[in-house]
Amino acid sequence: MKLKGAVALVTGSNQGIGRGLVEVLLERGAAKVYATARRPETLAAICALDMARVIPLKLDIVIESDRRAAASAASDVTLLINNAGIPGDDEVAQRRFVAAPTLDDARHVMETDFWATAEMCRAFIPVLLKNGGGIEGAAAIANILSIGALFCLPEYATYCAAKSAAAVMTTALRAELSPALLVSGVFTAGVETRMSMKNGIPKMSPVEHAHQVLSAIEQCQEDIFSGSNAEEIRDAIRKDPKAFERDRIARFRESPLA
Ligand SMILES: NC(=O)c1ccc[n+]([C@@H]2O[C@H](COP(=O)([O-])OP(=O)(O)OC[C@H]3O[C@@H](n4cnc5c(N)ncnc54)[C@H](OP(=O)(O)O)[C@@H]3O)[C@@H](O)[C@H]2O)c1
Repeated sequence: MKLKGAVALVTGSNQGIGRGLVEVLLERGAAKVYATARRPETLAAICALDMARVIPLKLDIVIESDRRAAASAASDVTLLINNAGIPGDDEVAQRRFVAAPTLDDARHVMETDFWATAEMCRAFIPVLLKNGGGIEGAAAIANILSIGALFCLPEYATYCAAKSAAAVMTTALRAELSPALLVSGVFTAGVETRMSMKNGIPKMSPVEHAHQVLSAIEQCQEDIFSGSNAEEIRDAIRKDPKAFERDRIARFRESPLA
Protein backbone atom coordinates (compact mmCIF):
# COMPACT_ATOMS: atom_id res chain seq x y z
CA MET A 1 0.00 0.00 0.00
CA LYS A 2 1.58 3.29 -1.12
CA LEU A 3 1.10 6.23 1.22
CA LYS A 4 2.61 8.69 -1.23
CA GLY A 5 -0.38 10.07 -3.12
CA ALA A 6 -2.91 8.31 -0.86
CA VAL A 7 -6.08 10.06 0.28
CA ALA A 8 -6.65 9.23 3.94
CA LEU A 9 -9.41 9.87 6.46
CA VAL A 10 -8.62 9.61 10.18
CA THR A 11 -11.38 9.64 12.79
CA GLY A 12 -10.72 11.43 16.07
CA SER A 13 -7.76 13.30 14.61
CA ASN A 14 -7.86 16.40 16.82
CA GLN A 15 -5.54 14.88 19.44
CA GLY A 16 -3.54 11.85 20.57
CA ILE A 17 -2.96 8.90 18.24
CA GLY A 18 -5.22 10.34 15.52
CA ARG A 19 -3.32 13.58 15.37
CA GLY A 20 -0.02 11.68 15.18
CA LEU A 21 -1.37 9.68 12.24
CA VAL A 22 -2.33 12.84 10.34
CA GLU A 23 1.11 14.38 10.92
CA VAL A 24 2.96 11.30 9.67
CA LEU A 25 0.62 10.79 6.68
CA LEU A 26 1.52 14.34 5.59
CA GLU A 27 5.22 13.66 6.16
CA ARG A 28 5.00 10.52 4.01
CA GLY A 29 3.45 12.29 1.04
CA ALA A 30 -0.30 11.67 1.33
CA ALA A 31 -2.05 13.77 -1.32
CA LYS A 32 -4.86 14.69 1.06
CA VAL A 33 -5.86 13.89 4.63
CA TYR A 34 -9.40 14.35 5.92
CA ALA A 35 -8.85 15.28 9.57
CA THR A 36 -12.10 14.61 11.37
CA ALA A 37 -13.47 15.36 14.82
CA ARG A 38 -16.82 15.56 16.55
CA ARG A 39 -16.02 19.19 17.40
CA PRO A 40 -14.45 20.66 14.21
CA GLU A 41 -13.24 23.74 16.10
CA THR A 42 -10.64 21.44 17.74
CA LEU A 43 -8.99 20.81 14.34
CA ALA A 44 -7.46 24.28 13.85
CA ALA A 45 -3.92 23.29 14.88
CA ILE A 46 -3.83 20.17 12.72
CA CYS A 47 -5.19 22.06 9.69
CA ALA A 48 -2.47 24.68 10.18
CA LEU A 49 0.15 21.99 9.49
CA ASP A 50 -0.78 22.08 5.79
CA MET A 51 -3.81 24.12 4.75
CA ALA A 52 -3.73 22.67 1.22
CA ARG A 53 -3.66 18.99 2.12
CA VAL A 54 -5.56 18.82 5.42
CA ILE A 55 -9.32 18.95 4.94
CA PRO A 56 -11.31 19.32 8.19
CA LEU A 57 -14.59 17.45 8.51
CA LYS A 58 -17.12 17.24 11.33
CA LEU A 59 -17.59 13.56 12.11
CA ASP A 60 -19.07 12.14 15.28
CA ILE A 61 -18.81 8.46 14.48
CA VAL A 62 -21.90 7.52 16.49
CA ILE A 63 -24.11 9.85 14.42
CA GLU A 64 -25.41 8.17 11.28
CA SER A 65 -25.99 11.41 9.34
CA ASP A 66 -22.37 12.47 10.09
CA ARG A 67 -21.06 9.16 8.74
CA ARG A 68 -23.16 9.44 5.59
CA ALA A 69 -22.12 13.08 5.02
CA ALA A 70 -18.44 12.17 5.52
CA ALA A 71 -18.59 9.28 3.03
CA SER A 72 -20.17 11.62 0.50
CA ALA A 73 -17.77 14.56 1.10
CA ALA A 74 -14.67 12.33 1.19
CA SER A 75 -15.53 10.22 -1.84
CA ASP A 76 -11.87 10.03 -2.97
CA VAL A 77 -10.58 8.21 0.15
CA THR A 78 -8.16 5.30 -0.37
CA LEU A 79 -7.20 4.76 3.29
CA LEU A 80 -9.72 4.82 6.15
CA ILE A 81 -8.24 4.86 9.65
CA ASN A 82 -10.84 4.22 12.36
CA ASN A 83 -9.07 5.68 15.37
CA ALA A 84 -11.81 7.39 17.42
CA GLY A 85 -12.54 5.55 20.64
CA ILE A 86 -13.41 5.93 24.30
CA PRO A 87 -12.22 3.99 27.37
CA GLY A 88 -15.41 4.26 29.40
CA ASP A 89 -16.41 6.38 32.37
CA ASP A 90 -13.82 7.96 34.70
CA GLU A 91 -15.52 6.13 37.57
CA VAL A 92 -13.87 2.69 37.61
CA ALA A 93 -16.98 0.81 38.78
CA GLN A 94 -18.78 1.90 35.61
CA ARG A 95 -16.18 0.04 33.54
CA ARG A 96 -16.99 -3.29 35.18
CA PHE A 97 -19.83 -5.72 34.56
CA VAL A 98 -20.85 -6.48 38.18
CA ALA A 99 -19.90 -3.35 40.12
CA ALA A 100 -21.50 -0.98 37.61
CA PRO A 101 -24.88 0.34 38.81
CA THR A 102 -26.24 -0.20 35.26
CA LEU A 103 -24.71 -1.27 31.95
CA ASP A 104 -25.46 2.11 30.35
CA ASP A 105 -21.80 3.12 30.19
CA ALA A 106 -20.85 -0.32 28.82
CA ARG A 107 -23.42 0.21 26.06
CA HIS A 108 -21.98 3.65 25.30
CA VAL A 109 -18.47 2.17 24.99
CA MET A 110 -19.78 -0.64 22.79
CA GLU A 111 -21.68 1.88 20.66
CA THR A 112 -18.53 3.92 19.98
CA ASP A 113 -15.72 1.38 19.92
CA PHE A 114 -17.62 -1.40 18.17
CA TRP A 115 -20.91 -0.45 16.48
CA ALA A 116 -19.91 2.99 15.20
CA THR A 117 -16.56 1.62 13.99
CA ALA A 118 -18.37 -1.16 12.13
CA GLU A 119 -20.78 1.38 10.63
CA MET A 120 -17.83 3.59 9.54
CA CYS A 121 -16.38 0.60 7.69
CA ARG A 122 -19.72 -0.11 6.02
CA ALA A 123 -20.13 3.56 4.99
CA PHE A 124 -16.68 3.70 3.40
CA ILE A 125 -16.30 0.23 1.85
CA PRO A 126 -18.07 1.25 -1.42
CA VAL A 127 -15.87 4.37 -1.58
CA LEU A 128 -12.68 2.37 -1.01
CA LEU A 129 -13.60 -0.32 -3.52
CA LYS A 130 -14.38 2.35 -6.11
CA ASN A 131 -11.07 4.16 -5.53
CA GLY A 132 -8.92 1.06 -5.10
CA GLY A 133 -10.56 -0.65 -8.06
CA GLY A 134 -10.10 -3.98 -6.28
CA ILE A 135 -6.35 -3.74 -6.97
CA GLU A 136 -4.41 -5.39 -4.14
CA GLY A 137 -2.80 -2.77 -1.87
CA ALA A 138 -4.53 0.19 -3.54
CA ALA A 139 -7.02 0.84 -0.76
CA ALA A 140 -7.19 -0.09 2.91
CA ILE A 141 -9.04 0.07 6.21
CA ALA A 142 -7.03 0.20 9.43
CA ASN A 143 -8.92 -0.18 12.69
CA ILE A 144 -7.09 1.09 15.76
CA LEU A 145 -8.04 -1.58 18.29
CA SER A 146 -6.01 -2.18 21.46
CA ILE A 147 -3.88 -4.95 22.87
CA GLY A 148 -6.81 -5.10 25.33
CA ALA A 149 -8.78 -6.75 22.51
CA LEU A 150 -6.81 -9.92 23.27
CA PHE A 151 -7.49 -10.26 27.01
CA CYS A 152 -9.53 -8.80 29.85
CA LEU A 153 -7.94 -6.02 31.85
CA PRO A 154 -10.50 -6.01 34.68
CA GLU A 155 -10.05 -2.27 35.37
CA TYR A 156 -11.24 -1.66 31.78
CA ALA A 157 -13.50 -4.69 31.32
CA THR A 158 -16.17 -3.01 29.18
CA TYR A 159 -13.52 -1.38 26.95
CA CYS A 160 -11.75 -4.73 26.41
CA ALA A 161 -15.09 -6.35 25.52
CA ALA A 162 -15.82 -3.66 22.92
CA LYS A 163 -12.30 -3.77 21.44
CA SER A 164 -12.43 -7.56 21.31
CA ALA A 165 -15.69 -7.37 19.36
CA ALA A 166 -14.07 -4.81 17.04
CA ALA A 167 -11.10 -7.15 16.49
CA VAL A 168 -13.39 -10.00 15.44
CA MET A 169 -15.32 -7.60 13.20
CA THR A 170 -12.00 -6.60 11.59
CA THR A 171 -11.21 -10.25 10.83
CA ALA A 172 -14.73 -10.70 9.46
CA LEU A 173 -14.25 -7.75 7.08
CA ARG A 174 -11.03 -9.34 5.87
CA ALA A 175 -12.87 -12.59 5.17
CA GLU A 176 -15.32 -10.69 2.95
CA LEU A 177 -13.02 -8.14 1.34
CA SER A 178 -9.46 -9.39 1.08
CA PRO A 179 -7.55 -9.09 -1.23
CA ALA A 180 -9.63 -6.34 -2.90
CA LEU A 181 -9.08 -4.26 0.26
CA LEU A 182 -6.30 -4.51 2.81
CA VAL A 183 -7.97 -4.75 6.25
CA SER A 184 -5.56 -4.16 9.13
CA GLY A 185 -6.19 -4.40 12.86
CA VAL A 186 -3.86 -2.36 15.06
CA PHE A 187 -3.26 -3.82 18.52
CA THR A 188 -1.95 -0.71 20.23
CA ALA A 189 -0.47 -0.47 23.73
CA GLY A 190 1.37 2.22 25.62
CA VAL A 191 1.09 5.48 23.67
CA GLU A 192 1.25 8.77 25.57
CA THR A 193 -2.19 10.39 25.18
CA ARG A 194 -5.11 11.61 27.28
CA MET A 195 -6.42 8.02 27.33
CA SER A 196 -3.27 6.12 28.25
CA MET A 197 -3.03 4.49 31.67
CA LYS A 198 -1.06 6.54 34.19
CA ASN A 199 0.90 3.54 35.48
CA GLY A 200 4.51 4.70 35.32
CA ILE A 201 5.33 2.49 32.29
CA PRO A 202 7.26 4.52 29.68
CA LYS A 203 5.08 5.27 26.65
CA MET A 204 5.68 5.91 22.98
CA SER A 205 4.73 9.23 21.40
CA PRO A 206 1.75 9.32 19.00
CA VAL A 207 4.14 10.26 16.17
CA GLU A 208 6.40 7.24 16.79
CA HIS A 209 3.30 5.04 16.96
CA ALA A 210 2.06 6.50 13.66
CA HIS A 211 5.41 5.72 11.99
CA GLN A 212 5.18 2.09 13.14
CA VAL A 213 1.56 1.70 12.05
CA LEU A 214 1.99 3.39 8.67
CA SER A 215 5.17 1.43 7.86
CA ALA A 216 3.25 -1.78 8.62
CA ILE A 217 0.36 -0.66 6.38
CA GLU A 218 2.85 0.09 3.59
CA GLN A 219 4.02 -3.51 3.97
CA CYS A 220 0.36 -4.68 3.82
CA GLN A 221 0.50 -6.20 7.32
CA GLU A 222 -2.90 -7.34 8.56
CA ASP A 223 -2.13 -7.65 12.29
CA ILE A 224 -0.10 -4.74 13.61
CA PHE A 225 1.31 -4.60 17.14
CA SER A 226 2.38 -1.06 17.94
CA GLY A 227 3.25 1.06 20.95
CA SER A 228 5.73 0.68 23.79
CA ASN A 229 4.70 -2.78 25.03
CA ALA A 230 2.22 -4.33 22.56
CA GLU A 231 4.58 -7.07 21.35
CA GLU A 232 5.67 -7.91 24.89
CA ILE A 233 2.04 -8.36 26.03
CA ARG A 234 1.17 -10.35 22.88
CA ASP A 235 4.10 -12.70 23.49
CA ALA A 236 3.16 -13.22 27.16
CA ILE A 237 -0.43 -14.10 26.18
CA ARG A 238 0.76 -16.50 23.47
CA LYS A 239 3.19 -18.20 25.85
CA ASP A 240 0.56 -19.10 28.46
CA PRO A 241 -2.89 -17.49 28.10
CA LYS A 242 -4.26 -18.86 31.38
CA ALA A 243 -1.23 -17.76 33.42
CA PHE A 244 -1.54 -14.32 31.83
CA GLU A 245 -5.24 -14.13 32.78
CA ARG A 246 -4.56 -15.22 36.37
CA ASP A 247 -1.81 -12.64 36.70
CA ARG A 248 -4.10 -9.80 35.50
CA ILE A 249 -6.87 -10.85 37.90
CA ALA A 250 -4.42 -11.09 40.82
CA ARG A 251 -3.00 -7.64 40.08
CA PHE A 252 -6.51 -6.21 39.84
CA ARG A 253 -7.55 -7.71 43.19
CA GLU A 254 -4.46 -6.26 44.86
CA SER A 255 -5.03 -2.81 43.37
CA PRO A 256 -6.99 -0.02 45.06
CA LEU A 257 -9.40 -0.14 42.10
CA ALA A 258 -10.83 -3.57 42.98
N1 LIG B 1 -3.13 5.59 24.12
C1 LIG B 1 -2.98 4.27 24.19
O1 LIG B 1 -2.02 3.76 24.81
C2 LIG B 1 -3.96 3.35 23.50
C3 LIG B 1 -3.83 1.98 23.73
C4 LIG B 1 -4.68 1.11 23.06
C5 LIG B 1 -5.63 1.60 22.16
N2 LIG B 1 -5.76 2.94 21.97
C6 LIG B 1 -6.79 3.40 21.02
O2 LIG B 1 -6.31 4.47 20.24
C7 LIG B 1 -7.41 5.28 19.80
C8 LIG B 1 -7.08 6.74 20.06
O3 LIG B 1 -6.98 6.95 21.47
P1 LIG B 1 -5.95 7.98 22.12
O4 LIG B 1 -5.06 7.21 23.01
O5 LIG B 1 -5.38 8.89 21.09
O6 LIG B 1 -6.95 8.77 23.09
P2 LIG B 1 -7.51 10.27 23.09
O7 LIG B 1 -6.39 11.22 23.09
O8 LIG B 1 -8.51 10.29 24.18
O9 LIG B 1 -8.24 10.38 21.67
C9 LIG B 1 -9.48 9.79 21.40
C10 LIG B 1 -10.03 10.46 20.15
O10 LIG B 1 -11.28 9.84 19.82
C11 LIG B 1 -12.23 10.88 19.64
N3 LIG B 1 -13.60 10.40 19.82
C12 LIG B 1 -14.17 9.79 20.90
N4 LIG B 1 -15.46 9.52 20.65
C13 LIG B 1 -15.72 9.97 19.39
C14 LIG B 1 -16.87 10.00 18.58
N5 LIG B 1 -18.05 9.51 18.99
N6 LIG B 1 -16.75 10.52 17.31
C15 LIG B 1 -15.58 11.00 16.88
N7 LIG B 1 -14.47 11.05 17.62
C16 LIG B 1 -14.54 10.53 18.87
C17 LIG B 1 -11.84 11.96 20.65
O11 LIG B 1 -12.47 13.17 20.35
P3 LIG B 1 -12.68 14.34 21.47
O12 LIG B 1 -11.39 15.11 21.50
O13 LIG B 1 -13.83 15.13 20.94
O14 LIG B 1 -12.98 13.68 22.78
C18 LIG B 1 -10.33 11.94 20.40
O15 LIG B 1 -10.01 12.65 19.24
C19 LIG B 1 -8.63 4.76 20.56
O16 LIG B 1 -9.42 3.94 19.71
C20 LIG B 1 -8.03 3.95 21.70
O17 LIG B 1 -8.89 2.94 22.17
C21 LIG B 1 -4.95 3.82 22.64
